[in-house]
This record gives sequence, C-alpha cells and structure tokens, in this order.
Amino acid sequence: MSDVILELRNICKEFPGVKALDNVSFDLRKGEVHVLLGENGAGKSTLMKVLTGVYHPNSGEIVLHGNKVSFQTPRDAQLARIAIIFQEFNLAPNLTVAQNIFLGREPKARSGLIDRAKMVRDAQEILDFLKVKIDPNAKVETLGVAHQQLVEVAKALSIDSEILIMDEPTATLSENEISALFDTIRNLQKRGVSIIYISHRMQELKVIGNRITVLRDGQTVGTCEASEVTLDELIRMMVGREISKVRTRTENTAREETALEVSHLSQGNKLKDVSIRVQRGEIVGLAGLVGSGRTELAQAVYGITRRDSGDISICGEPIQNPTPIKCIQRRMGFISEDRKECGLALNLPIRVNVTHAGLKSIFPGGIVDVRRERKLAEDYRAKLRIVTPDVERNVVNLSGGNQQKVVLAKWLSTDSAFLVFDEPTRGIDVGAKEEIHNLIRDLAVNGVGILMISSDLPEILTLSDRIYVMREGRIVHEIEQVTSETTQEEIIAYATGGAEQ
Ligand SMILES: Nc1ncnc2c1ncn2[C@@H]1O[C@H](COP(=O)(O)OP(=O)(O)OP(=O)(O)O)[C@@H](O)[C@H]1O
Ligand SMILES: [Mg+2]
Repeated sequence: MSDVILELRNICKEFPGVKALDNVSFDLRKGEVHVLLGENGAGKSTLMKVLTGVYHPNSGEIVLHGNKVSFQTPRDAQLARIAIIFQEFNLAPNLTVAQNIFLGREPKARSGLIDRAKMVRDAQEILDFLKVKIDPNAKVETLGVAHQQLVEVAKALSIDSEILIMDEPTATLSENEISALFDTIRNLQKRGVSIIYISHRMQELKVIGNRITVLRDGQTVGTCEASEVTLDELIRMMVGREISKVRTRTENTAREETALEVSHLSQGNKLKDVSIRVQRGEIVGLAGLVGSGRTELAQAVYGITRRDSGDISICGEPIQNPTPIKCIQRRMGFISEDRKECGLALNLPIRVNVTHAGLKSIFPGGIVDVRRERKLAEDYRAKLRIVTPDVERNVVNLSGGNQQKVVLAKWLSTDSAFLVFDEPTRGIDVGAKEEIHNLIRDLAVNGVGILMISSDLPEILTLSDRIYVMREGRIVHEIEQVTSETTQEEIIAYATGGAEQ
C-alpha cells in the first residue's frame, strides 16, 4: 500500500487578495482513499482544480508516476486517467442522464453516429453498479439535487480512471445512498483505483478513509493514518481554535400560533395524503431517504409545484393557490437545497446578496442604505465566519461552503414567521455548523416556526423538537417529542420501511 502514484509538491495558488494555497504538499498511494479535510475556504477544491488543470498553480509541481506533469485543461487530466466529481455540478440540465454521463465520449456505431442504444445500456449498467434507481432517459433538470449528485458520480465512473477525486459527494445524500456509494468506493479500491475524498461529514472520514490530510488557511497542517487519530484531534487540526459549544435552547412557551398547517395533501405519486403542522417557535425535522418526498412537500407548499388536492394554511391563513410571492407576503421563506437555483446572484457582491430577501423589512422606505447594508453583511460575515477579503467580493468567487453561508444569511436577515430549510448545512464545516444551529435555535426562540429537511440525522436529532419521517410520499411516523433517548435507528427504521417488517 505504500507505492506513491501521485505527488503534489509545494503548490501555491493566489487569487486577487487571497492566498488560496500556500506551499501545499500531498501524496496519494495506489488503492487508498485519501481524505482531504479542512474548513470552508481552506483550499481543498482549489487544490483539486490545480491537480486537474482547471487552475494553473503560481508555483509547485505535480508528479504522476515519477514524471512531472502539467495539465493545461481538465481534458488533459482525463487523458491521464484522473477523473473528478466537482462540488458544484457540471451537468447539462436539458440533456438526459445517459447523454450527460457520456458527454463528449459517446459510444459510436460503425456508421460513425452515436450509438444511442448502447449509450443507454452502458449508463444503466453504471447506475445499477451504483445501486441507484434513475432512468437513464430522464432529463437531468427533472432530478433532485441528490440524484444529480449520483449522475456526477456515474459520469466519473464511466471514465476508466486511475485516480478519482470526489469533492463532497455525500453532501446531499442520506444513509442508504451513502452506504451504496461506500460499497462502490471499496470496489474501486479493490481494482487499484486511488481516491481523493473531500467531505464535511466528520462521521464518514474514519469509515471510508485510509489516510487523512488536513488543510488550514491554504496550508498543510499534517497527514495521519485514519486509524490512529480521533475525531477530536482532527477537529483541532482543522479549526485551530475552540469551536463554539452547542447551546441548549431556552424553552419558548408561546407556541399557540400555527405557522404551517397542511392537511391531506396529495400530488401524483410524489405526495400521498400528507398532513403536517408546525407551530411558531417550534423546530420540526422532516427526515426520510432521498426521493421520499421531503423536498416535493416543501415545493408544493411554496407553490413551486401544484398539488392535486389538500389544504394548506400559512400563519393561520388558508392559501388556495400558493405561489412563492404569496408565500413571502405571508412571511414564509424557503431556503432551497439547490443554492444555484434558489437563492444567489452569483455575480453580485456578498453585501447585496445578504439583504436581498429582506430588502422590504430592512429598508422599509425603499431606499437602500449601503452603509447599513455593509454593516449587516459584515455582521453575518463575522458570525458565520464567511471566508472572504471583504463583503464587496462577488459570491461566485467564494468556496462552496461559504456560498451556502451567504444563502443562510440572506434568509436569516428577513423577518419571516415561518421558514423551511432544505439541507441547511450542506457543505458546511463543523465549526460553522454549530454557529448555524445556534442561529436557527435563536430564530425559534424569537417565535419563528421552522420546518427543517435534512439528510444529516445527527443534525435532525440535535435541532428538532418534533420529527416527521417520510417514505414514498407519505408521512409514516411522527416523533412527538425528541429527547436524548431518541435514536437515529428509530428514524432509519421508518424511513426504510424496516419498522413495519
Ligand atoms: N476563482 C476564484 N477567485 C477568487 N477567489 C477564489 C476563487 N476560487 C477560490 N477562491 C478562494 O480561495 C479560497 C479557497 O477556496 P476553496 O474553494 O478551495 O475552499 P474549500 O476548502 O474547497 O472550501 P469548501 O469546504 O467551502 O468547499 C477561498 O478563500 C475562496 O474564496
Ligand atoms: Mg470546496
């Protein structure tokens, strides 16, 4: 296991005002899973982009099988059998799953034309290998974020690579898909494939990783054997400071008012007779596997999709045909799992994005006070530790986790009475996660009703007062009062249907 196939030596990479990588070294052995760990903005994705020819380093070298290489484009890296699953997806939304998997590498028939039948068959084979039920003929735009993630994985697998880089492949997946993905990773390892694995889900690292390298502020802190290090030690290495303690919530008693009431909601085969309720001041967790209908439920409430039947009322007012605008007027906010789609103006500064959703309440006169806006953005930057030289930077230049923090800041600064969070801490590092949890608790204490969809079961358990579990479009279980005795197993049993057998 000790033959090194790839070495990154003293890599430096600067962006205007940001030293993203400062003398980083890293090596990869044949057949290992090497975890790259670090806070949001530490430089993980940048290092991988340097390796795959997306960025060119200012200095340093890449040595592959003992030879110095320099990739000009991602295509060059692919030819050297290095595949990458990017953190921000790279799929063509209006093409099918099969077309996306083989984009630019379509199998050809003898006539020279694309062999569509073979392409679909091959795609199906990879999807089966991954144990995911996605139709290879479905358009990518019709898939949820988790399934898009799995298409990205399938695409990377279709390249017969020797090195596979996975930049947060599990950020939106739930336990079942994660364990299927881990089976796939172990299979690849057996075939001698080496994997560089990036994740903020601390509980996975020691399960899947052989070695772990920690980056902090663009520098290498160290590399250790996964079996010889504790999670606490890793957190200390990556954070370099004490992380804030989880606060327990001061009990809020004013829960008479209802923030959301849904009764007998149905929609095609996605939602079946769903009834739920969220009180103001209450945090309700919505658990379930990917595809169980959690996001579909939130989208139907917010009027992104149309329901077939059932009643919805928001903050005590029935709402016949919900639309996002009507919902916002009733002081509901929806923080979608898809940050590109929902919520960020990527080419505008952080400052503008932060006040975007709350403009009316922050500046009731309709005139934006830029100084106040900057102050507010600065507050969130400090609270959520958004890594950036200043809040005038465009969001597009932030790391993935830091973009997610801006999405949250944007909704936290509104005066909503009811908020739906769909995977709120997707891609967010351990330290910032605690901060965000504390902010969500503060909202509840101040009387906001919160419905939180999360695939991260520890998150559901620490935050929720009450939990609904969904499976195949139905609410199959309600945990009326979450206590310290409530277990992940209870949720998993209902989410997978195991509880009924
Ligand atoms: N194209 C760019 N232009 C300017 N700055 C950039 C660019 N890409 C990355 N950065 C900056 O480089 C630093 C490292 O970012 P990077 O995306 O590598 O972080 P990361 O470790 O992957 O974080 P995360 O866990 O949030 O994904 C950040 O400060 C980021 O804002
Ligand atoms: Mg990243």
